[in-house]
Amino acid sequence: LPVPSVQAMVAATGGADVPPRYLRPAEAVAGDSEAHIPIIDYQRLLLELELDRHGEESARLHGACQDWGFFQLINHSVPDDVVEGMKASIQQFFQLPMETKKQFAMERGQLEGYGQLFVFSEDQKLDWADILYLYTQPHESRNTKLWPDQPANFRSTLDRYSGAVKEIADSLLATMAENLGLKQEVIADRCVGGVQSVRMNYYPPCAQAEKVVGFSPHSDADLLTLVLQVNHVQGLQIKRNGSWFPVRPVEGALIVNIGDIFEIFTNGRYRSIEHRAVVDPKEERLSAAAFHSPNIHATIGPLKELTADEDEAYKTVDHENFMRLFFATKLEGKSFLDRMKLK
Ligand code: SIN
Ligand code: FE2
Repeated sequence: LPVPSVQAMVAATGGADVPPRYLRPAEAVAGDSEAHIPIIDYQRLLLELELDRHGEESARLHGACQDWGFFQLINHSVPDDVVEGMKASIQQFFQLPMETKKQFAMERGQLEGYGQLFVFSEDQKLDWADILYLYTQPHESRNTKLWPDQPANFRSTLDRYSGAVKEIADSLLATMAENLGLKQEVIADRCVGGVQSVRMNYYPPCAQAEKVVGFSPHSDADLLTLVLQVNHVQGLQIKRNGSWFPVRPVEGALIVNIGDIFEIFTNGRYRSIEHRAVVDPKEERLSAAAFHSPNIHATIGPLKELTADEDEAYKTVDHENFMRLFFATKLEGKSFLDRMKLK
C-alpha cells in the first residue's frame, strides 16, 4: 500500500490543502505545557560505572527511568563532527530530488528504506512525514543497497554515528541493570550482537499543523531509544497522566526513552512511555531515532532474575515473532504492548 511522499505533496500543492486521510480531530493534536524531563550527565554515569560505585547520577537515572521513562542525555560521547555530519547528511538526503531518493525506496512488504511504515489500509489516518529507515547493527544486518550514497559521506557518517550511539546504549543498559539489582551481564549478554536500527524522520511544514500528526502516538518496541534532534524545530510530545506534553530538547543532548522490551524484561518496573511527534505550521522538522534491541536469538519475556517472587505480567516470545507482530500492528498508543500482557 504505497502512499505518496508528504514532502512531494507539499512541494506540488504549496501545502494549503490537506487531504482528509491526514486530518485528525483537533483535540487529538493539542499539547499541554512543557514537560521538563530529567537531564542525565553521561560522563558522570561513566565515571560511576568505572569506579563500580552507585553514585548520585546512577540514582538520578533510576529515578528518571521509574518516574518518566524519558530523559535528556548531556555530555554524551558522540564526537561533535559525527553529530554535525549526521545532521547535515540527513538534511541533504531529504533535499535530494525525488528521483534520487526513490532509488532507496522501501519495497512493498519491506521494512527498510525511504517511504512510510505502518500503512495498512485505505481508510486509516496517515502520518505527516516521510522517513528513511535502516538497520545499522550488527554489521551483517545492513542492507547497504538501501544506504544512500548521496550526500557522499552519508554511509561513513551513519556508520560512525551508529557505533558511537550503540556504545552509549550499552553503557546506559549496564547502569540500568545495576540499578535494578541485576548483574550487568543479564542484559549485556542479550545485547551481544544486539540489533540497532535508525529511523530518520522528515516532517514537512503543514498549513493545518494543528490537525495533523507527524508520528502517531506509540511506544517504541525496543529496549532503549536515543533520539537526535536534527534541526531546531521541536515537535516531540510525551503522554503523562493522560495529557500530552511537549519536550524541549536541550542543545547538544540526546533524548533517551525506555522501550517496550525493557518494560517486558523488567516485568513492568520500568515502563515504556507513549509519545508522538507534531509538526510545525511554517518550518520543516527533522529527527533521527536509533532503536536498540537485544540480539535476534534472545527471547523477549520477563527476566527470571526479577520474577522469582512475583507473577510474570507479560508473555515470552521469540525476538523475530515479536518484531514481526510489531510491524504488523497499527501504531496506536501502547496497544501493541497490551497484546504482550498476560491477563
Ligand atoms: C519518535 O522517535 O517517536 C519521535 C522522534 C521525533 O521526531 O522526535
Ligand atoms: Fe518513538
